[in-house]
Amino acid sequence: MPNPPDLAALLESPLARDRDAGPMQRQLHERLKRAILDGRLAPGSRLPGSRALAEALAISRNTVTAAYEHLAAEGYVQPDRQGTRVTELSSPTLPRRAGKSAGTPATARRLAAIKPGTPFAEPDAALRPGVPALSHFPIAAWRRALDRAIRTASPATLGYGNPLGEPRLRAAIARHLAIARGVRCEARQVVIAEGAQEAISLCVRLLSNPGETGWIEDPGYRGVKAAMRAGDMHMVPIRVDPEGLDASAQDWRKHPPRLIYTTPSHQYPGGSVLSIARRLALIAEARRHGAWIIEDDYDSEFRHTGEPIGAMQGLVADAPVLYIGTFSKTMFPSLRLGFLVLPAQLMAAVQAPLEEMLRGGHRHEQLAMADFIESGQFGRHLGRMRRLYRDRQQALRLALTRHLKVPHEIDGGYCGLHLTVRLPPRFDDRRIAAEALRHHLAPAALSSFSVQPLPSDNGLVLGYGNTSAELFEPLVKRLSQLARAAERSGA
Ligand SMILES: Cc1ncc(COP(=O)(O)O)c(C=O)c1O
Repeated sequence: MPNPPDLAALLESPLARDRDAGPMQRQLHERLKRAILDGRLAPGSRLPGSRALAEALAISRNTVTAAYEHLAAEGYVQPDRQGTRVTELSSPTLPRRAGKSAGTPATARRLAAIKPGTPFAEPDAALRPGVPALSHFPIAAWRRALDRAIRTASPATLGYGNPLGEPRLRAAIARHLAIARGVRCEARQVVIAEGAQEAISLCVRLLSNPGETGWIEDPGYRGVKAAMRAGDMHMVPIRVDPEGLDASAQDWRKHPPRLIYTTPSHQYPGGSVLSIARRLALIAEARRHGAWIIEDDYDSEFRHTGEPIGAMQGLVADAPVLYIGTFSKTMFPSLRLGFLVLPAQLMAAVQAPLEEMLRGGHRHEQLAMADFIESGQFGRHLGRMRRLYRDRQQALRLALTRHLKVPHEIDGGYCGLHLTVRLPPRFDDRRIAAEALRHHLAPAALSSFSVQPLPSDNGLVLGYGNTSAELFEPLVKRLSQLARAAERSGA
């Protein structure tokens, strides 16, 4: 049996008598616990008798017994006939076995496949893609909607809600989608998610097994790559051209997909619209192969020319399409509200596991969002933003034509919140983007959206959603200088 330890070494420092140090009992308990965890009090050794310790520390014996009882309740020590003995505990201080490279914590292998994104740029960095006009958001109206939701909801709303989302919001979304996007669905097919990104991840989790193939657009949205890689999917990039996703018969034969991710109404970031011929062919082939299409309809409420382009989901009855939408562009990104519309039969098959996987939450925000849609404020806000973005897009096109003094082509379509400018390969797009950040400008390099970049995947994705039109002229002049400075010598 180990000897009773030296008291000074055991406690490391004397107990403090001032009030801020806390009660004696807690201090003593804390010091003894530390001594046990650090190995200064070895397993099997005995704590000093309570009377002796009380005398040595000039504290009451009750204080010591209370500290010992606390340690015993937590399992650090065990009273026996001869006093109090330290329990046999595993040592928590042994060095941890490192991962493959020494010192690296072992993580899931799939993480290595998730490539770092572009450096973080503040949402107000000019020309940052994907950010809506934050200062034009009707924050006072939204505050009132939130306030109404909190005032009128019962206390039960503070508890767990329906894991698939508030029924009122699911119904409001179903009605809105039928009118605005031609989506055919009932409220019970709608699942509320934390934005499009979580909705995409849910599709991967619900519909794919590790190693199965997922098609993505190349160049395309980076978020889907992270979701598929995190789901251990085998990712196959499919080129996009001016008619959208260009899947060949060979692609279907050689890499039959389980999931196909596409942005058919406004390809991200190239801007093309998936032609009707390709939409119908994609649906027909997906049916034949038992594949599911994930339709990411992230910004098509903002179409700037002609009639809106309807969603693929509503093109034919029972299309094998999972429709995804988000309030990140139509409202604001930090709201973290998006939705997934599942085909009715699929919903019947996944509802039970989905209800176990999700917890719902943000119930007041969901109710306020339903109120916003039902009261017509959402529709009016969309109308105002559509006009604003249309004007901004026109102004940006004009500024590019006038002031971008390097050869370029403007792409990106007449929709949404961004334009894509293609540059000849001799201009290093990543260098331009990196330099631009130093000037508080955050265009994205087009090549960073490609898995297998072609020379034509070079240029800049310019977000105009959150940058006011008066700034375009000086900003484009600056980009023009940066582009010239990033021209590869000898190319
Ligand atoms: C193609 C695409 N999908 C979805 C989103 C939105 O994602 P979330 O709703 O998670 O904010 C974006 C945002 O930039 C996007 O570009």
